Amino acid sequence: MKYGRIVGWGKHAPARVLTNADLANRLDTSDEWIITRTGIRQRHIAGEGETTATMSVAASRAALARAGLSPADLDLIILATTSPDSLLPAASSLVQDMLGAKCGAFQLQAGCTGFVYGLATAQAFISTGLHKNVLVIGAETISRNVDWKDRETCVLFGDGAGAVIVQACDEPTGVLSFVLGSDGSGAPHLHINMGAGEVITPETIQRGDHFVRMNGREVFKFATRVMGQAAMQAILQAGMSLADIDLLIPHQANLRIIELAARHLNLPMDKVFVNIQDYGNTSAASIPIALVEAIEQGRCQVGDNLCLVGFGAGLTWAAAVVRWGVSERPLAMSSLFTPVVKVRERAQVTLRVAQTAAAMQVMTARYALKKHTAKAVQTVKAKASAALLPLYARLDKRYTRDKRD
Ligand code: ACO
Repeated sequence: MKYGRIVGWGKHAPARVLTNADLANRLDTSDEWIITRTGIRQRHIAGEGETTATMSVAASRAALARAGLSPADLDLIILATTSPDSLLPAASSLVQDMLGAKCGAFQLQAGCTGFVYGLATAQAFISTGLHKNVLVIGAETISRNVDWKDRETCVLFGDGAGAVIVQACDEPTGVLSFVLGSDGSGAPHLHINMGAGEVITPETIQRGDHFVRMNGREVFKFATRVMGQAAMQAILQAGMSLADIDLLIPHQANLRIIELAARHLNLPMDKVFVNIQDYGNTSAASIPIALVEAIEQGRCQVGDNLCLVGFGAGLTWAAAVVRWGVSERPLAMSSLFTPVVKVRERAQVTLRVAQTAAAMQVMTARYALKKHTAKAVQTVKAKASAALLPLYARLDKRYTRDKRD
């Protein structure tokens, strides 16, 4: 059987930041209420021209670069979202076209749980040997579906995108297990009444049926119950116990929900990744954005077992156990040798080299911390310089030749 290892990752957050103070200026709310009840301090809001598809493309390009792949290498694109650019066509096809990929693409909707559903779907395609490289994206422009006069919902949400490349491999790394759940009887607790079941009329618009409506207390109760259960099921299915989990990456909907879920699991908070303070609830984008930030902060090391767990509209829930199998590095070494055909590309390549050098320094520090010996630091430093020097020489040679030509 093939395993689906995550070999590339990327995220995108809109530049526009909306703080709790900004919201308190226009609504009957306060920074204190939002922080104590949700843990959110700010959220990013998509700007003009920014959509689920454009943010997906930005995150996907970063993921492809990390993996050292081009769009032509992709076999499938799965986009999880509840806020596509339009009902038809699916935003996944817009992403495929904008990336210049030549593969199938489809959109998946399972509320905030969508990304974990997407990861499970990618794993299914990979384990059967059908596909080698699958791009899984979670992206939302949910700010456009939020009633900015409804203080009970609008303070919670934010926009953004996260993407990963899942690649077939033979070693038992990547997605080791997953659990998917759904209970449609909970649909009234979290919904947007816009679709073929409710034709848009001036009355529906007047009522604001096209906005997210939520029974916060019911969703809260449901979330705290299913998060722990789903995570435990996925962990047991992977043949592990809770002690084997190095990091829990939960859906970032409410800090209190996350803390309660961790308490139910008896998991200390230092094993739980939290970034809700900076993004709010970005729905299907929340878990991939959190995963990317966890990687960037060095919290996913080779061999670590991660548990991703989410819940959302449907009501749905899902969890997956992922064994991390790729060492943190800025870009694949092979991508450093991409032919430099134009002089202006020199700047980009130099940046890549600088990123590599920085990553090597991080590696050195980590190695030194583990071994506690000055000799170990010297050895890694020497190895890093030996790897970088010929690279610089090669780039200089190519630069001189391109300039001459
Ligand atoms: N500012 C100030 N006061 C507020 C605000 C606000 N933004 N929102 C609500 N209140 C008031 C309420 O009106 C209520 O006032 P009252 O007591 O006079 O009636 C009071 O605060 C308490 O309201 P509660 O609903 O009890 O507040 P609670 O502590 O439950 O927090 C919250 C509300 C944050 C919405 C919480 O229930 C929650 O997070 N629920 C889960 C929501 C969620 O995760 N949704 C996303 C699902 S994922 C997806 O698929 C999109």
